[in-house]
Amino acid sequence: MASSFGAAQVLVASNRGPVSYEVREDGSLHAKRGGGGLVSGLSAIGPDAGALWVCSALGDGDREAVRRGVGEDGVRMLDVPADVHADAYNGIANSVLWFVHHMLYQTPLEPVFDAEFRRQWASYEAYNRAFAEALAEEAAEGAVAIVQDYHLTLVPGMLRELRPDLRIGHFSHTPWAPVDYFRLLPDDIAERVLRGMLGADRLGFLTRRWADAFTACCDAVVGGLGGTEIGVHGLGADGDFLRARSHEADVEERMADLREEIGTAPDGGARRTVVRVDRTELSKNIVRGLLAYRELLAGRPEWRERVVHVAFAYPSRQDLAVYRDYTDEVRRVAEAVNEEFGTPGWTPVVLNLKDDFARSLAAYRLADVALVNPVRDGMNLVAKEVPVVSETGCALVLSREAGAYEELGEDAVVVNPYDVVGTADALHEALSLPAGERAERSKRLAAAGTALPPARWFLEQLDALRG
Ligand code: F6P
Repeated sequence: MASSFGAAQVLVASNRGPVSYEVREDGSLHAKRGGGGLVSGLSAIGPDAGALWVCSALGDGDREAVRRGVGEDGVRMLDVPADVHADAYNGIANSVLWFVHHMLYQTPLEPVFDAEFRRQWASYEAYNRAFAEALAEEAAEGAVAIVQDYHLTLVPGMLRELRPDLRIGHFSHTPWAPVDYFRLLPDDIAERVLRGMLGADRLGFLTRRWADAFTACCDAVVGGLGGTEIGVHGLGADGDFLRARSHEADVEERMADLREEIGTAPDGGARRTVVRVDRTELSKNIVRGLLAYRELLAGRPEWRERVVHVAFAYPSRQDLAVYRDYTDEVRRVAEAVNEEFGTPGWTPVVLNLKDDFARSLAAYRLADVALVNPVRDGMNLVAKEVPVVSETGCALVLSREAGAYEELGEDAVVVNPYDVVGTADALHEALSLPAGERAERSKRLAAAGTALPPARWFLEQLDALRG
C-alpha cells in the first residue's frame, strides 16, 4: 500500500469548499472565494504545511472547472454525478439529517422513511465513499484528516478501513439531536450514522450540550463511544478581520444608504434598530422574530416611529420547496407588519433578501439590538459578531437554544424562541437598556465571542488529533 500514499499532511473534507466557479458568457471561468472558519484555519498553518481541502463540485461552473482541470492549489473538487449529489445533499443531508438535528419535522405527517428514502440513502453512501476514496488517495502516511459536518458522517468509518494509519477527526457544525428525536431515523440508519462517525479518533462539537447528546445517542444505539474521543471547540468570531473589514469604503457607503432607509424619529432623534442577519433557514426562526416585533409595536405603542427592524434573510437551499415557502412567508409577514403599522415617513421592517456582506456589516455597525432567536442552532456566529462591530454597543436578544447561549447567555437578554410575547418583552428590555450598561455588556459579549477565533479553533483540533 505504501506506493499509493499521497503527499498531503493535513486534509479537510467538506461538502462546500473554499472556492466556487461560474461560467461567464464568453465561456471563461470565474472563481469566487469564500470565507469562514476553515479558510482561516488552513491559512493559519501556512502554505507549506501540505494541506489539502477536498470538497464537492456543487454547480455547473464547478463541474466545468473539474473537467477543464482548472483548480486552486490545495483544493481538490470531486465531480460526484449531479443526481447522486442532489440525493445526498438535498435529500438526505438537508432534508433528513439537518431536520433531525434541528428538530424541524412536523411529526404528525413526517418523516416518512419509504423506498425513495432508501434510494437516496444509497446515493448518500456513494457520495461519502467518493470523499473517503479521495482522502485515502491524497493523504501522506500518518496524515491528519478532519471531516466536516452531517453531509459526511460515513466518511470516518470508510476512511479508517482504507487507511488505518491516518489520524481522523470529524467536526459537527450543527446541534446533535436528543436520543428520542435521533431515533426517528430507521434503526439501521441511526446505527450507520453513529458507527460511521465513530470511525474517527476524535469527534468535535461546538458545545458541551451537543457533545453530550451525541454520547447519549451512542450509549442508546451502539453501546457507547468505543475508543473515540470527544472534544468541544466553541468556534468564535474573527474579531480582527471583522473590525478591519467593517471600516472599508463599501461598508461606509452602505451605512449611508441604510441610515436613509431607517430615517429619524418624529422628535428628530435617531431611530433605534433591531438587526438580524441570517440565511433564510428554517431553524433561524425569522417569522417568529417578525411576529415578536409586531407584538412589540402592538403592545407598546411608544416604540412606533422610533424603531426599525432591519432584517437580512439571505437565500439558502432554494432547491427545497420548504425553504422557498419559508422565504415567501418571511416576505409576507414583513409586508403585513409594514402595512399594519407603517406611516409615510416610517417603514417598520426593512427586509433584505439579497446577499450583501458589506450591507450586513453596515447593519452590524448601526445595531442597537441584535435579534438572534433560532429554534435550534449549532452556534450562531452572528450573535458573536454584532457586538464586535456595533458602534455604540448593542444589546443581544438571544435564544437559549443557540449554541452561543453557553458562552454569551449571561450578558444577553435570553428568550424561549417559541414564546413570541416573551420575545417582544425581551426586545423592549433590550431597547430600553441604559446606554452605559448596554456598552458594558456589549464589550463583554465581544470578548466572549472572540475568545476562540477560527485559526485557533482549527489549530486546537489539529493539536488534539496529533496527540
Ligand atoms: O451549520 C452547518 C453548515 O454546514 C455550516 O457549516 C454552513 O454555514 C451551513 O451549514 C451551510 O449550508 P449550505 O452549504 O447548505 O449552504
